[in-house]
Amino acid sequence: MSQVDIARLHREIDALAAITEVEPPAVTRIIYSEKDFAAREQVKSLCHEAGLELREDAVGNLFARWIGTDPSLPAVATGSHIDAIPQAGRFDGVLGVLGGLEAIRHLQREGFVPKRSIELIAFTSEEPTRFGIGCLGSRLMSGSLSLENALALADKDGRTLASWLEETPYTAQDRASILLENGHYQAFVELHIEQGPVLEREGFDIGAVTHIAAPAAYRIEMAGQGGHAGGVLMPARHDALCGAAEFVLALESAATSSGSPDTVATVGVLQVSPGAINSIPAQVELTVDLRDIRLDTRVGTWDAATTALENISARRGLTTHSSVINEDPPATCDPALVAATETAAKKRGYSCQRMISRAYHDSLFLSRIAPTTMIFIPCRNGWSHRPDEFSSPEQIEKGVAVLADVLAAVAQ
Ligand code: GLV
Ligand code: MN
Ligand code: MN
Repeated sequence: MSQVDIARLHREIDALAAITEVEPPAVTRIIYSEKDFAAREQVKSLCHEAGLELREDAVGNLFARWIGTDPSLPAVATGSHIDAIPQAGRFDGVLGVLGGLEAIRHLQREGFVPKRSIELIAFTSEEPTRFGIGCLGSRLMSGSLSLENALALADKDGRTLASWLEETPYTAQDRASILLENGHYQAFVELHIEQGPVLEREGFDIGAVTHIAAPAAYRIEMAGQGGHAGGVLMPARHDALCGAAEFVLALESAATSSGSPDTVATVGVLQVSPGAINSIPAQVELTVDLRDIRLDTRVGTWDAATTALENISARRGLTTHSSVINEDPPATCDPALVAATETAAKKRGYSCQRMISRAYHDSLFLSRIAPTTMIFIPCRNGWSHRPDEFSSPEQIEKGVAVLADVLAAVAQ
């Protein structure tokens, strides 16, 4: 029986990590940047070498297909993303793409003959860095976001996706073909690092993901009155940043007391204008990232935060505007695929536990058009979205082997 070629996979992960917009070991690869295109070329060339048939859609979702003996059957798909947020590590997303490719090569070396085609996907812009919304490619593929709304999404300089696309090779592609119908895939299975501490802490090799937490994101603008930091006495102030600070703490308190231990709220962006040391903040723009396994407690948290925002604004004489970036329901993974992951792990003698994904993934959207699950492996200290993100070769090897077994089980 052939082995997973972990040495080769490790070299490929390292080589991809070298394509970064910042000083290594940090990885930053923002969608449609020069480095993003260079990384795509690297992945495409590896897929080509493996004899896979390549296709790119009109936003750059990349598909690499190992054609089965009955190409008329819906394929089984795997994959993830290769874009990386600022100062990220080398495994988030990349494991699911290059590890997915290695799972395919492993099956090829074993002499496995798939009946269904097996397709590797590298999704466009899983990370929200450029366009403010995560899972852009998979949202479009699953019809969870309309093309019209997507094309109007703008970056921080006001440049739209439509404008960015004009400078990509994807302009020639038919935009109607981005959308995939329900049933296009027989199954979707995504391999990913856990991005949390559970597997490592509890000593499990593999996580079989049963649910994916429901993410929501909001943008809030608060406006007060600017002025001279020396000249305006405290009782006369309408300081937008002081209002924002109160709101951040009110949000924290709403999440902490939501009634669900799984509610998490984060303000990760805060822009202060005019942003001068001796000037009272006149405007603040901030983002809220709010997630939960349960929709009722997530909604309750946002209601409480919104009420707090209104009270703070009224008391401080601020005007506030809040808008929804996304409000997505949670996903339930396919029970048969979860069981297939457990069976594969057990057969190989790996310990496996069922768990939820607290991070969002393209699987959240693929689950709307195909039976879906995720395979998690441990990562050191649960760290992710930071340069020292790490999973060992042994941990990765186990994840790839289980993925290969699950793909083979569905494809044969
Ligand atoms: C994905 O990167 C997430 O923020 O969950
Ligand atoms: Mn990420
Ligand atoms: Mn990811």
